[in-house]
Amino acid sequence: MRKLTGEEQKWVKDTLGKIKDKMVPVTERNLDSIPYTTMSGRFDDKSESDVCWWTNGFWGGEMWQLYKLTGNEMFKKEAIGVEDKLDKVLMINEGLDHDNGFKWLPTSVIRYKLEKNKESYNRAMLAAGNMAGRFNLAGNFIRAWNNWDDVDRRGFAIIDCMMNLPLLYWASEETTDPRFKMMAVAHADTAMKTFVREDGSVNHIVVFDPFTGKMVESLGGQGYGVGSSWTRGQSWGIYGFALSYGYTGDKKYLETSKKIADYVISELGDSYLVPIDYRQPKDVDLEDSTAAAITASGLIELASQLEGEEADKYLDAAIKLLKTLDEKRISWGLDTDNLLNNCAVDYHGDGHNMSIIYGDYYFIEAMMKLDGTALKIF
Ligand code: GLY
Repeated sequence: MRKLTGEEQKWVKDTLGKIKDKMVPVTERNLDSIPYTTMSGRFDDKSESDVCWWTNGFWGGEMWQLYKLTGNEMFKKEAIGVEDKLDKVLMINEGLDHDNGFKWLPTSVIRYKLEKNKESYNRAMLAAGNMAGRFNLAGNFIRAWNNWDDVDRRGFAIIDCMMNLPLLYWASEETTDPRFKMMAVAHADTAMKTFVREDGSVNHIVVFDPFTGKMVESLGGQGYGVGSSWTRGQSWGIYGFALSYGYTGDKKYLETSKKIADYVISELGDSYLVPIDYRQPKDVDLEDSTAAAITASGLIELASQLEGEEADKYLDAAIKLLKTLDEKRISWGLDTDNLLNNCAVDYHGDGHNMSIIYGDYYFIEAMMKLDGTALKIF
């Protein structure tokens, strides 16, 4: 991956400065909480109302990255606070699912990597063991969600799970027991064959027969519909396959990440403002800034695994995405707690034009990757 130009370095330094200036007072007024979104510009707190929510690790991860960026002990204390609060989830069976990765990679695993403490190791291993227990032997996939609203999800897998696999790779590295990694690789192979389409777009949900393992159908999930191209799903795919390449060295995952990235770059148009679905109707202007931030961080991950013009192409696209967010979609003022605006939960629900914590997390992570200072959380 090339070195940043002088102008790019200045922009990265200035932007990280703006992040520090904003996130110190924002964190001071949100101590001891786990934010998800903002209401009238102020963060909510999921720690009591919905401690099992899948995004509850991101504030912890943001706190660790900000601790790395600033050395301010407040951020470390808050990160550990989030990890402690998640202990409740380890005792709620229905609160555990494939998103154990999103909850415990940015909390217990990163703390263990930094401090080698037994408590974090124990939590992360419990989460990894539970995730491994979701592996379906007939279909070689990790079951995504539990059942709710009377929907049978025994055969559901989702592209997002590619981002959870590092919990299993980590567990194998730590224990020297290959089983966790075997499951991660088997899932990645299944995802490569059943989620990634010929043109590089990806399915959000694939449904398998949980007894035979045969693929039954794909669903539009949080995107526009069957066969559409949910932008956050694309970003999970770019980033997730690049990660599996990093943990295994298997080039087919690198090629898959590139294939999805090439498709995404061809869809970004001139504006680099990212819709909720690359195939949503042309007259719909719904956006998702989280997809922009995750795509950018995934593209930097991919660029770091490549050299020459190929790496430059992905790095250039990532920088353009991040600059667009910085200039057009971030609230830098202290009147709001969030950074990113115009985030979306999904296409068909009503969670549009809001802030979402993982959008902020991946923006900060991506900016710190450009600076060479980001902690490796995924
Ligand atoms: N993992 C769920 C989502 O990206 O909304």
